[in-house]
Amino acid sequence: MSRPAIAQINLDHLRHNYRLLNQRVGQSEIMAVVKANAYGHDQSLVGPILLEEGCRSFGVTDATEGSELRAIIGKHNSTEITLLSGVFDAEDAGLCLDCRLTPAITELNQIELLTKAGFNGDIWLKFDSGMNRLGAADPATLFSLVSDAGLHVHGFMSHLACADEPEHPMNLAQAKNFFETCNLISPDTPKSLLNSAGLISLQDYAFDVVRPGIALYGAEPVPDQPFGLKPVMSLTGEVMQIREVQAGASVSYGATFISEKTMKVAVVSMGYADGIPRPLSNQGAVYIRGEKHPIIGRVCMDYTMVDISNSEVQPGDSVEFWGEHISTNEVAAEIGTISYTLFTGVGERVRRQAV
Ligand SMILES: Cc1ncc(COP(=O)(O)O)c(C=O)c1O
Repeated sequence: MSRPAIAQINLDHLRHNYRLLNQRVGQSEIMAVVKANAYGHDQSLVGPILLEEGCRSFGVTDATEGSELRAIIGKHNSTEITLLSGVFDAEDAGLCLDCRLTPAITELNQIELLTKAGFNGDIWLKFDSGMNRLGAADPATLFSLVSDAGLHVHGFMSHLACADEPEHPMNLAQAKNFFETCNLISPDTPKSLLNSAGLISLQDYAFDVVRPGIALYGAEPVPDQPFGLKPVMSLTGEVMQIREVQAGASVSYGATFISEKTMKVAVVSMGYADGIPRPLSNQGAVYIRGEKHPIIGRVCMDYTMVDISNSEVQPGDSVEFWGEHISTNEVAAEIGTISYTLFTGVGERVRRQAV
């Protein structure tokens, strides 16, 4: 039997979230963002389900992820796989050709790499509208260079900096900048601006294609304006052992937890190498047998200790770190991070299991 360290992936919840988003976006097409192995959910589980739900556009980071996804979803339908970070070298450009990938272009050298590889397909032109992250500085010039090189601009793309704060003035400023720039260069070229949170804060700017990621996986992008999403991942370990700890004794590395009374402690089968954030040491809780139990002592590489005093918890009981009963937003808030880092931090050695 394998070590109990499992990310259960609830495919019905994935379907539910996709359908909910699809209703919300109306006429716009969804580009499902499945980069970083579907935010840690396993693109080989997620890709086929989204395909079945009618999704025909996917966003990944680079050509390696793109070629892996192409092998999963197949070549022969109308699916588009966009490389949100473009191409880095000749090998990537070759993969665009072989696997029919659609790179997002931000620099002239990417056009050169693609044309040298014999690529003459679709690209996205990604430009900056105020976030000052990756994006062409002069989209008008890049647009003409792309066309001169015989490539086809499938659409313009930009990304929002503050979409998870719906009232933030940058949202509207970026949207206007994006819209005006696109229209100056080529009004008929499709546009894509919104991520998950953008669908709440700026729905009027959904344009032709929207690019939700986190919402597909069921973490509410704006927690106080919930969509009604369902969590796709439940990260679950198991109680391996139960110890009685005497008053005055310590638990785990560094002896940072000292028991004030005799207590029952469960040793759980997952630690930071599985993606349990070490900052949860002496903070936060897990869910066992219908109740939350506090994490005590430092999270170790392979184990986490939990106070189960006054409970019926038994060895072999299932332990949820996040999922149906504890949201990733809740865990993230506890340790000053975001649900994205929890999902993408789930260790490779954790088995992804479709449920
Ligand atoms: C360019 C781009 N579009 C869309 C997304 C999806 O964002 P979210 O997961 O917030 O919906 C990301 C994620 O970082 C991104 O970088």
